[in-house]
Amino acid sequence: MTRDDLFNTNASIVRDLAAAIARNAPKAHILVISNPVNSTVPIIARTLEKAGTYDPTRLFSITTLDVVRASSFLSGIAGTDPAQTPVTVVGGHSGVTIVPLLSQSSAGTAVEQGSEAWKALVHRIQYGGDKVVQAKDGAGSAALSMAYAAANLLLRALKGEAGIVTPTFVKSPLFASQGIEFFSSAVELGVSVHFRVC
Ligand SMILES: NC(=O)c1ccc[n+]([C@@H]2O[C@H](COP(=O)([O-])OP(=O)(O)OC[C@H]3O[C@@H](n4cnc5c(N)ncnc54)[C@H](O)[C@@H]3O)[C@@H](O)[C@H]2O)c1
Repeated sequence: MTRDDLFNTNASIVRDLAAAIARNAPKAHILVISNPVNSTVPIIARTLEKAGTYDPTRLFSITTLDVVRASSFLSGIAGTDPAQTPVTVVGGHSGVTIVPLLSQSSAGTAVEQGSEAWKALVHRIQYGGDKVVQAKDGAGSAALSMAYAAANLLLRALKGEAGIVTPTFVKSPLFASQGIEFFSSAVELGVSVHFRVC
């Protein structure tokens, strides 16, 4: 199933879920996992906007998989602990829109930028999700990432833990002047200010 197929199926589903959230839980924090995330987040934003309950600080998407994949694959090359090798991933959440900022990682020098190894690593990060979908052959996707992201990031932040910084696809000021309203970038999650785009 391609992301175009997913769009045709999921666009109306997330629209209807967003309308139901607006009616029943207008203050909810919404983590969007349904693909294609690059499209489903804006659909939800517009639906909430129409209902008058849109708060950009409560709507973000799960791109955690891109981040943990980037850390894991880079660590595999560098011989480091993935938990201690964070990689910021910006852009979006599909194929070439996934941009891992390898050179900013502490292990970034393990792969020479522009080399064949570097190209293979970037490709592996960008298309890792597609490989899982192919391997499962119609029986779902990388399901554990959803629980990991919700429990490990949002719930910890809502319980008051400070300093939780993670990339996520959000309404962002970074490239707004160039017409890009939503962009994956590092944000700091929190309780009172729900997140702050870094
Ligand atoms: N953002 C990410 O990192 C990431 C990671 C994994 C999966 N995904 C995406 O998450 C989505 C789910 O993947 P999955 O592997 O769990 O798929 P799945 O087929 O195992 O589960 C889909 C679930 O949605 C339910 N559903 C179907 N129609 C519905 C409707 N109209 N209203 C409410 N629920 C409905 C189904 O009953 C099923 O339980 C997919 O879009 C997938 O691409 C995203």
